[in-house]
Parts: sequence; C-alpha cells; structure tokens
Amino acid sequence: MPKLLFVTSEAQPLIKTGGLADVSGSLPAALKKLRWSVRLMLPAYPEAMERAAPLKTIARFYLPGVPGQVRLLEGHLPDSQVIVWLVDFGPAFDRRGNPYLDPDGKNWPDNAERFALLSRCATEVAMGRAGLRWVPEVVHCNDWQSGLVPALLSTETARPATLFTIHNLAYQGLFPQASFHALGLPPHLWAAEGLEFHGDLSFIKGGLFFADHITTVSPNYAREIQTPEFGCGLEGLLQHRSRELSGILNGIDVAQWNPADDPHLQHSFDARDLSNKAENKRALQKTFGLPRDHKKLLLASVGRLAEQKGIDWLLAAIQRLASLPVQLVLLGTGDAKLEQALRKAQQRFPDRLSVRIGYDEGLAHRIEAGADAFLMPSRFEPCGLNQLYSQRYGTLPIVHAVGGLKDTVVDYSPATLADGSASGFCFYQPRAEALLEAVERAATLFTQHITEQTAGTPGKTGGQRKKAVSTWQKMMLTSMGKDVSWRRSARQYAKLYQELLKR
Ligand code: ADP
Ligand code: GLC
Repeated sequence: MPKLLFVTSEAQPLIKTGGLADVSGSLPAALKKLRWSVRLMLPAYPEAMERAAPLKTIARFYLPGVPGQVRLLEGHLPDSQVIVWLVDFGPAFDRRGNPYLDPDGKNWPDNAERFALLSRCATEVAMGRAGLRWVPEVVHCNDWQSGLVPALLSTETARPATLFTIHNLAYQGLFPQASFHALGLPPHLWAAEGLEFHGDLSFIKGGLFFADHITTVSPNYAREIQTPEFGCGLEGLLQHRSRELSGILNGIDVAQWNPADDPHLQHSFDARDLSNKAENKRALQKTFGLPRDHKKLLLASVGRLAEQKGIDWLLAAIQRLASLPVQLVLLGTGDAKLEQALRKAQQRFPDRLSVRIGYDEGLAHRIEAGADAFLMPSRFEPCGLNQLYSQRYGTLPIVHAVGGLKDTVVDYSPATLADGSASGFCFYQPRAEALLEAVERAATLFTQHITEQTAGTPGKTGGQRKKAVSTWQKMMLTSMGKDVSWRRSARQYAKLYQELLKR
C-alpha cells in the first residue's frame, strides 16, 4: 500500500473552525478505501487529544528551535479506522478553543512558532528521522499552517513527493522578517523565489513555490486565483506554476450529512418522501422565534462572519428583502461589527430575520434540513461546503457564481430546467442588488410552488386531485440526487499522488 502523510491544522470531529476541518476529517477515510495507507497529522490541541483517545506515544524527539521534547501521539478519528498522529508540545498547543485565535479573537502571538513546529515535525516524519517504521511516499499539506513542509523538504535529497492544497488563498500566514530568523529557517529560503513576500515571511509561499504540485478545491477557483481579482497578490506565482496547478472539487461526508439518517433532526426525510421537510421547517421557525408560515420562503445562512462571505451585501439589501414574502435565519460567528449589524437588523425586522451568534453543529444540520433556500453571497469561495450540504437536504442554494459555487450550483433558467440540471439560483455581479434579484427569482418560483400545491389539495367537493410536481420540487429532487460524495474526488487525488510518485 502506498503511504500518505496528510498534514492539517484542523479535522472534524477533533477540532473545527471551517471547511478545512470537514475535508481533513473525511478525505483521508475516502483515500483509505482506495487502499492508501494514511496518517492524519495535526497539533495535539486538548479537544483533539480527548476525541482521538485512547492515545499512545509513538515517538519523542527534539526539533530545531523548539525548547523541549516533542511527542508524537497515535489515536484514531472517532468512528473510523483513520490513524491520527498528534504533535504534542504543551507550550504550543495545550490551549482550548479556536486553534488560531486567543479568547479575544486575536491571532495567538506565537502562531509562527506553533505552525513551524507542526511543519518541522511533519518534515522529520517524512524523512524517516522520527524513529518510526512508517515513512510516507507522499506528503499532502493543507493551507499556510503546513506551508513550510514543502520548503523544508526542498532542501533534502531522497524526499517524498509533496502536494499543497489551497483551501483559501486569503489566509497566507504572513509574519515579520524577524520571525524568519527566529525560526532558524535555512537562510537561502529568504528570497522572492522562496518564502519572502514583500518583506514579510509567507508560510503559504512555502507550499506555492516548493510543492511538486498544487491543488485547490474547485476547478473554477484554480483559474480565478491566477487573476489579479482573486489572486491576493500571488497571481504571478500561480500563473508561473499553472502547469502544476489544478482544481479538485471537495466532496462531503455523506454519512454525516444525510437527511434520511441525521441524529440532529427530529424528522428525517429523503427524496422519495419530502413531507417531513415541512416538519423541519416548522421546527426551525419555532427555534428561531419566527411566525410559523409555510407560505414564506425560508432563507438560511450558516458560516463564518467574515468579509469573504458577503454578509454585508445581505445587510445592504435587508430592507428590500423584508418586503418580499421571505424569512431569514442566520447562524454564524466572527467579525464583531457584522455580529452587531446583524443584531440591529433583527431588531428592525423581528418577524423576518432571526440571528444566532455562535457556533452550533447540530443547529447547522437543522437549518440545512428546515430551510427552503440557502444563501451564499460570497465575494470569493474556494469551494464552499454548505451549498453541497444544502442540496443534499433539498434546500436550494442562492449563490454568487464564483469559485466552487459556480462549479456546483446550476442556475435556474428555461434551458437548465429543460435539461433537468437546474439546482439553485446564481447571481453574477458582486453587488447587493444582484443578490436581491436572485432572491426575488427564488421567491417568485417558491410562491408559484405554494400556489400549485394549494390548488392540488382536496377540492370543496372532497375529490382528491393528484398534486403535480412543481418546478421547485423538481429542482429539489435534482439537488438531492447529485453525487456529492468523496468517491470521485478521492480518486482524482489518488491518481495525482500516483503521478507524483512517477516523477
Ligand atoms: P469556510 O471553510 O470558508 O468557512 P465552508 O462552506 O467550506 O466555508 O465550510 C464551513 C463549515 O463550517 C461548514 O461545515 C459549516 O456548516 C460550518 N460552520 C461555519 N460556521 C458555523 C457555525 N456558526 N455553526 C456551525 N457550523 C458552522
Ligand atoms: C476554505 C474555503 C471554503 C472551502 C474550505 C474547504 O475555508 O473558504 O470555500 O470549502 O476551505 O476546502
């Protein structure tokens, strides 16, 4: 069996802040099914240690620049056979909560040291210097936190192949030049053709410059990041590496996100019987304290409250949104200003908008199940997972057609309706007005659906007329019937690893 070391800074259900955790928690299992011997490496945060238990120490070693002994602990991803290796160095990782931020929401001041440590540890394991019998042939790194691994490996001979996946180019791991020296990195890496980025140390450049291949999480984002609009200043380097850059769409964990068998729901449902979806809608309206009204289009949004997610466009359109036959529930946490603006908007339109500030896994599932449509007005979106979850739950996505959203949502039009591919609503201009128009289109179609359903219910004479399937329902069925599992994408990764091994 070929051996793969998968290095990441978060993995569901050990620790999660966003989609990287979903991917790291489900792709390794899919690769294991394809007969790869996988080790999932991440820091030994307290929550991760508890959830991956029982743990055993499999190696102890010293790393350059690390003042003490580092331990490698072996455990398992809960409910799976995937072997987890936790990098344990208390002063760096024995902190609860968000893995990157302190309790005030600021970056931990020693993030450079913490994730350099993770990268150094992965490098030692990759080079067979950790005293382990298992040595990888491929190292797959994810986002800036493991960006130094390909850079460090580039200085070695007889090293494993390296792949770097960009989950989000906007997070680059930038630190002052002094950090470069403090970390004791090989001096020749301080170069524009190396880790330097406009005078700063860039962790992500370690991956972008030195990995044998780069992937990102959708084919469309792979194209976009080679342009100034989406390249975050790195478009030149990415163009230069375009022959070794490709997009592989994320899959989802179809066991965890399954409306027919989801422990977070009281009312399960599937494509053969959608009647319980209405029960979930009622329950969601109750949870969020909104009037129970089946005729209103129930819109939802779940996610990090960050500029990326376009929540400000939603706020800019809120007054006109509230004049449509819609309700909106929102779950999220992040930027304090956005949180406050959302609370204010809720006070203005209490019958239409209800907001929960916080992080709640179970509620995220109930929202996917109970809403009619899911809003993702992202400015940019490398892949996005919520639009995949929502389609699986028959909740039609309304999205800005960028990144992975464009690759995974087919806009409703006469043509896409005729060929049976329509699965949601897209808007194409980065503006609140464009978002509003897309919601209007969805609301019109939904009202048509409600009217048809009402007309199809028993007549005054008691005669039962058969309900025709509405356009909205057809789109729900198209969405729910899509294969969004990891199967296809995991195969693409496995094929790529094999190609890298041949080089
Ligand atoms: P990103 O990684 O940019 O945050 P994705 O759409 O790829 O966006 O993934 C976000 C993941 O995090 C999804 O699984 C989503 O349900 C989850 N999530 C984000 N915010 C919250 C929250 N406040 N409560 C529960 N789950 C959340
Ligand atoms: C990032 C992106 C998101 C993607 C996720 C997993 O956080 O913002 O679009 O789905 O990573 O790849």
